[in-house]
This record gives sequence, C-alpha cells and structure tokens, in this order.
Amino acid sequence: MQAEPIPKFLGKRIVLGVTGSIAAYKAVELLRSLVREGAHVNVVLTEAAARFVAPLTFEVLSGQPVATDLFATHQEMLHLRLPEQADAIVVAPATAHFLAKAALGLADDLLSTLLLTTRCPLIIAPAMDGDMWAHPTVVSHVAQLRQRGALIIDPVEGPLASGRIGQGRLAEETTILAAIEAQLSRSRDWVGERVLVSAGPTQEPIDPVRFISNRSSGKMGYAIAQAARERGAAVTLVTGPTSLPIPAGVDAVAVTTAEEMEKALMMRLAWATVIIMAAAVADFRPKHPADHKLKKTEHAWKSLTLEPTRDILHLLSKRRTSQILVGFAAETQNLVAHAKEKLIRKRLDLIVANDVRAEGAGFGSDMNAATLIDRDQREIRLPLMPKRELAHHILDAIQRLRTDVRRTCSQTD
Ligand code: CTP
Repeated sequence: MQAEPIPKFLGKRIVLGVTGSIAAYKAVELLRSLVREGAHVNVVLTEAAARFVAPLTFEVLSGQPVATDLFATHQEMLHLRLPEQADAIVVAPATAHFLAKAALGLADDLLSTLLLTTRCPLIIAPAMDGDMWAHPTVVSHVAQLRQRGALIIDPVEGPLASGRIGQGRLAEETTILAAIEAQLSRSRDWVGERVLVSAGPTQEPIDPVRFISNRSSGKMGYAIAQAARERGAAVTLVTGPTSLPIPAGVDAVAVTTAEEMEKALMMRLAWATVIIMAAAVADFRPKHPADHKLKKTEHAWKSLTLEPTRDILHLLSKRRTSQILVGFAAETQNLVAHAKEKLIRKRLDLIVANDVRAEGAGFGSDMNAATLIDRDQREIRLPLMPKRELAHHILDAIQRLRTDVRRTCSQTD
C-alpha cells in the first residue's frame, strides 16, 4: 500500500491578503488549495475585496474569522498578532493601488499595515488591466518591492475583464502555489544580502544588423539569480540578450554590449554585497562599427579590425570595497590551473571553473560540472548536475567565505 503524500503546507501559517480586483474570486480556490495542503490560513480582506467576494465565503473555507478592519475592537492588534505567527504573507490578487501603498509604506487598512509589521516572506500576485501593469508608476512600485525582497509573481497574458487581451491576468494557481512552496521550503540564509549577477553573452556590433557574440545561453547566471532570490536575497540580474524568462522576484537590467554591461554593473557596485560575474562578456569588439548596413562588396569586410573590451571583473575587483566577488572561467584545457591563475590575477574570492567541453555540460545545457576554487585555494570538485543545483553549491561556498570572515573577526576581537 502506498503511503499518503504529506500535505505540502502542513503546519505552515499563511496570511492570505485579498484586494479589490475582479480576480478576487480566484483567491477562494487558492485558499481551498492551501487548506487542502495543510496550511492554517488567516484571510485578510481589503474593503474593496469584500465587495467582490463576501467574507463569509473565506470564513467558511478557512475555518477562521476573516479580518478586514484595522479598527474593529474584536480584531484588536491583528496587525501585530497575525504576522508574528505567519510563515508567509501572500497577497493574491493584488491591485495597482495595493502595490502603490505597499511600495510607499502607506498603512491605512489592516492589510497594508500588516506589511510594515512583518519580516516574513512576502509573495504578491498582481492582477489588473494590461495598460495599468505596464504603466511606469506600477513598474516602479513593483521594482521597489522586489528590491526590498518581495516575491512578485507577474500576471500573465490573456483576455482581461475589460474584454481586451493583455498581460494582467492573475498568474495560474499552480504557479502561485509553487512559488509559495519554494519560498517556504528553502532556508532563508541569504536574507539581507544584495546580489548583483551578470548573465548571458554580450553582442558587439559590426554594423546595425550584424554582431560578434558567443554561445552563452545565460542559464547559469539566471539559475544563480533565482537561487539567491529563493534564499531571501535581493537580486539584480544584469543580462545580455537571452531567451530566458526573468526569475520571479528578480530585478532585471537588459544590456547588449560589454560597455553597457560594464556601466550597468558599475552603477550598482555600491549597492551590492555580493557580485557574481557569470556573463560571457565578449573579449573583443569591432573597432569601427559601421553606422550603416555594410554591403557585401564593401572594403570593410576584407579586414575587420577588433579591439579588446575592458575586463569588467577586473575593474569591479579594483573598485570594490567589502563586496564578495565571484568570477567564472570557461576552459577547455588545464581547467584548475587556468582558473587559479584568473582567481589570483583578478583578485577574486571565488572562481567557478567550467570545462565547457565536458560531456553534457556547458553552453546551452541545463547541466553543468564545475570546480569551485576559493581565495584560500580550497577546491571543491562538483559532478555533473542541474545548473539550479550548482547555483546553490556556489551560494553555499560564498556563505562559507562569509562565515570564515566572521570567525576571523570574532577571534581578533
Ligand atoms: N569577464 C569580464 N569582462 C570581460 C571578459 C570576461 O568581466 N571583458 C569575466 C567573465 O564574466 C568571467 C571571467 O571574466 O567571470 C573569466 O572570463 P574568461 O574570458 O574566461 O577569462 P579571461 O580573463 O578573458 O582569459 P582567457 O580569455 O585567457 O581565458
């Protein structure tokens, strides 16, 4: 006989915030799924949400009184009591108005006040009209919330209440449940870290339609960004052109050339506590990119003059203060020796050495095999594994470096 699967959220306490969107009815199904998976759910409705779905519906399904009012005497101090006990706060659906209040720290009702009293993971699934979601004000509020560590589950494309098609529909329930599960199951040992990750290739223009680039897919850098986010860090991903979706909760900056990547990273250097250069930056670029599409008959093709790009990792290394700096070395021979040389020359804390010719590993693959070498020349040889898993090993190695520093500091105190 097969054992019953253990409910995913057994013993977890979740505050489910519902705001006044037409998608509020979907929160009812979400609540049922959370309860079915063993969660203890306290529902908090905004006044507008209670107009869409009656509080009684949530009360019956959660088996708990539904909180709505910051000032009701029988709900005294709920803004302090609820988050104290919660493992996560999930707001689904979240309106543009709610995002604005949360971003600015306005606290004029129970749900928005709760956000200021909690330090537990915050998961927000917005739903609104597509034009509203794309409005610069909303975009900036979402970016602010992400920077502060909230996990925002982007709405999806589809028919909207207005009858139009756009990106504004509440994400699928399975997506929201998976995000809650990921948040609750991982240890949150990266809370407080601000991680700057570069990923993907750069493209160096020859003319307006042609460029020099490389085979990097960006998968390793994206996996690191996602893993750091899942473990509680605020993450900014500076990405060259890739076809990958931005991981939930990660702030992304899209760049094309090595020069743009350098600018984007340098601007954020002071913000970061950890910098991970997973990008495959082009080492050379055309010295004189043409401002028009070159004809095949043009003389310029006879010899394309290249010039080196600046080594961003080296620049970061020279300008950093206390940030931990991690580089990558893509090699095809003498892996460890070449990587160690780069580690020392670029004065890094950690280098991830990839044998890009190893079977099943390298560019484009979902798998990778790497050797991690730290500043004390400690080597960790890792077998072929999914890039997501390797990402966590890299974060673990960085954590060990942090612990070493703390230990040394306390010994010298
Ligand atoms: N890198 C960088 N800027 C460049 C080139 C590379 O920041 N213009 C970074 C990469 O992101 C990676 C590391 O440097 O983290 C290693 O890059 P790689 O090209 O393998 O090493 P190089 O130092 O360029 O040496 P070589 O070409 O001899 O392998």
